[in-house]
Amino acid sequence: MKAGFFFSILLSMLAQLSQAQYHYQTLMNYLESRMAAMEERIVLWHEQNNRYSSDLKKFRNQAADLLEKLGKEHEKLREDLEGAGVRVDRVEREMDYIETKNPPKPCVKAVDKMVEQDPVVKERKKKDEFFEVSVCVDIVSSIRAMKIVKRLGSTKGVWTKDARTAKVYIFNGTSEDTLYEFKSVKELSASSGMSKGKQITLPFAWYGTGHAVYDGFLYYVTERSELQLIKFHLENSSLVDSAVLPVQDQVSVYSFNPETMVDLIADEEGLWALYAVGETINLAKMDPDTLDIEQMWDTACSRNNAEAAFFVCGTLYVVYNTRPPSRSRVQCVFDVNDMVTPGEAPLLYFPRRFGAHSSLKYNPVEKQVYAWDDGYQILYRMSLKKKLWAIVPPPEE
Ligand SMILES: *[C@@H]1O[C@H](CO)[C@@H](O)[C@H](O)[C@H]1NC(C)=O
Ligand SMILES: *[C@@H]1O[C@H](CO)[C@@H](O)[C@H](O)[C@H]1NC(C)=O
Repeated sequence: MKAGFFFSILLSMLAQLSQAQYHYQTLMNYLESRMAAMEERIVLWHEQNNRYSSDLKKFRNQAADLLEKLGKEHEKLREDLEGAGVRVDRVEREMDYIETKNPPKPCVKAVDKMVEQDPVVKERKKKDEFFEVSVCVDIVSSIRAMKIVKRLGSTKGVWTKDARTAKVYIFNGTSEDTLYEFKSVKELSASSGMSKGKQITLPFAWYGTGHAVYDGFLYYVTERSELQLIKFHLENSSLVDSAVLPVQDQVSVYSFNPETMVDLIADEEGLWALYAVGETINLAKMDPDTLDIEQMWDTACSRNNAEAAFFVCGTLYVVYNTRPPSRSRVQCVFDVNDMVTPGEAPLLYFPRRFGAHSSLKYNPVEKQVYAWDDGYQILYRMSLKKKLWAIVPPPEE
């Protein structure tokens, strides 16, 4: 009986043992299969990794090739551009030559013709023009065309037309006391020289290129002990009035035209003066009859690298250049009515010219700028568009 008992215990132990072994075996099988799966995955990763790194290498080589090719093409493009630049320069020079050989036809505009008409029509036309200009809400959108009218005098000077008559005035140099009057642009264009015009001698020499002519009056700045504004009647050759300008720092308005301390603009809205305060250009509105200063603004336009400015419908356009001169460009705009938004003001480039502008005088009737550039008398015809706020009124505050 005892032996049977032990035997049964042994059997049950053996059974347990084999069960344990069975469990162990299953565990081992399971682990092995997991290891095999992991190994497989590792092999796969390895392969992928190899592929990626070879792809990366290939990509890096391709990128290097591409960069090298781009570099070569860039070089070639630069050479081509330089070649084109030289050709453009040559064409411009040839055009200048042709233009000086065949002086362009003078612009006979409404005002030229107006003078030949009878006084009644003339008066009415003047009124219409006055009305049109005083309600004007225009902004310059582009420089539409350029015309070289003449080549007279020294590198710096002023030529301008009285917007109320057809008369054209030539101020040669930056400090003289004699100017020349022509009946029209046509007469000037046909003349053999500035001395063919009517000679007008001033009581004091002008200083700079800031003169303005409007409705038969010349406004100019002379430098005696102080900066003095002179109002002169051209027809009668008489001094009408004068005033000392309260300009503190005697620095030029535009750094590229050091002789011009004050730039004057005369139009139907009054007399405007541009002068520098520190490094910025300031604007004053004056009464053309009494020469009183009515209002002043800091335009926030820098005088540095500025060469000239022009004024259209209450908006000032300051023109900048580089040294040596390249293309003149409008880079600062100031609107006295605060109607022109900065984004609305166009970046205007002037056509490439000879040197730098010594003066730019806008004629509101003809919508063109009378420019003096290195002794050339040039007309720039402007395209205008309506100020945005003239179409869409600003929201009420
Ligand atoms: C114009 O000005 C220049 C220099 O200021 C002078 O040499 C030249 O004689 C002037 N021309 C006339 C016609 O006055
Ligand atoms: C110009 O002279 C005329 C005639 O002498 C005179 O009637 C007129 O008032 C003068 N004009 C000015 C602005 O001095």
